Amino acid sequence: QKGGYDTFMEKEIHEQPYVIHETLRMYMDHTQIKIDELDKMDWHFEDFNRVYFIGCGTAYHACLYAQYLFDKWLNIPSFCMPASEFRYGDPKLDKKSLCILVSQSGETADTLAALKMAKEKGSKSIAITNVLGSTISRLADVTLYTCAGPEIAVASTKAYTTQLVLLCVLMIQLAQKMNCSILDVDSLLQDLQNMDVHVEKILSQKELIKDFSSLLKNKKDAYFIGRQLDYVSVLEGALKLKEISYIHADAYYAGELKHGPIALIEKGSVVIALAMQENVAEKTLSNIEETMARGAHVILITSMQKVSSDYDHVFKIDNIHPYLSLIPVTIVLQLIAYYAALQNECDVDKPRNLAKSVTVE
Ligand code: F6R
Repeated sequence: QKGGYDTFMEKEIHEQPYVIHETLRMYMDHTQIKIDELDKMDWHFEDFNRVYFIGCGTAYHACLYAQYLFDKWLNIPSFCMPASEFRYGDPKLDKKSLCILVSQSGETADTLAALKMAKEKGSKSIAITNVLGSTISRLADVTLYTCAGPEIAVASTKAYTTQLVLLCVLMIQLAQKMNCSILDVDSLLQDLQNMDVHVEKILSQKELIKDFSSLLKNKKDAYFIGRQLDYVSVLEGALKLKEISYIHADAYYAGELKHGPIALIEKGSVVIALAMQENVAEKTLSNIEETMARGAHVILITSMQKVSSDYDHVFKIDNIHPYLSLIPVTIVLQLIAYYAALQNECDVDKPRNLAKSVTVE
């Protein structure tokens, strides 16, 4: 059942090259994106005046990513909210709003309640889910499926990365339909198609990642920092670490450190820093130096070619489109959390207090 792996989580992490490939195969025909489900609808995307991305936990992080892309490429104001906030927050919803809901299980109570509320107000909806026939797929106007296959481990891994892939594909398709130009679309599509190879490359370096994660041994806290899209990845990395290893982890915008959180950094603190977004990487490096000056041990994950030898733990990632780099980064962060949890002798597949699908409010 575990296919030769020790745990379901380990198996699911290793399935990512395949399931990413499968998800792309479903919605791409060679280099052309083709989401037939959208063509069947009688809506015009130009008619929407706002888009909401809604989900919980890891799925919410996928929504943050999607909102970022939407903001860059499409001319519709877009918003992102955890479902548990959205449904009580009196959002502006009407016929001109589109709600895009993301849920691996398709059964999360808050996400379903958000969808029902949107429908009652006349809004249109697209569900992104991993489970055929799930409740969300029966309620939404359109359902798009990730091809992650069953995710047994409680912590989401392959469902998340396939959500990122599908959301990216969806954004490109909508941009094309709305005649919005996307910078570097060819390189984006090419990197998407090679994503399985990029992910394989990360998996082949798991011993190095395991070695880095030993920094977390006997630690009670970890600090994740990043800017722009790297911030989405640090949120997900911190969530994964806390849920399976029980190490307290927080994620910060790197530039926000000096506005408070740096007070927590002391000798021996562990900082996991991402510098994947070229335009702000140097800025993040200077934030990292501020933590090192206070005695922090830093794991730096970056695609920068030249990195000073002052950093002890540098994990290099191939330079791919900045809007896609969070996929390989996420795999590194999943593995850090995984090995940290094993060191703490945690049951990675069934972390305490958590259920695979949160069907209560
Ligand atoms: C974290 C995790 C949870 C889920 C959340 C939403 O690893 O698995 O945060 O992402 O409970 O679940 P779905 O996507 O099924 O709605």
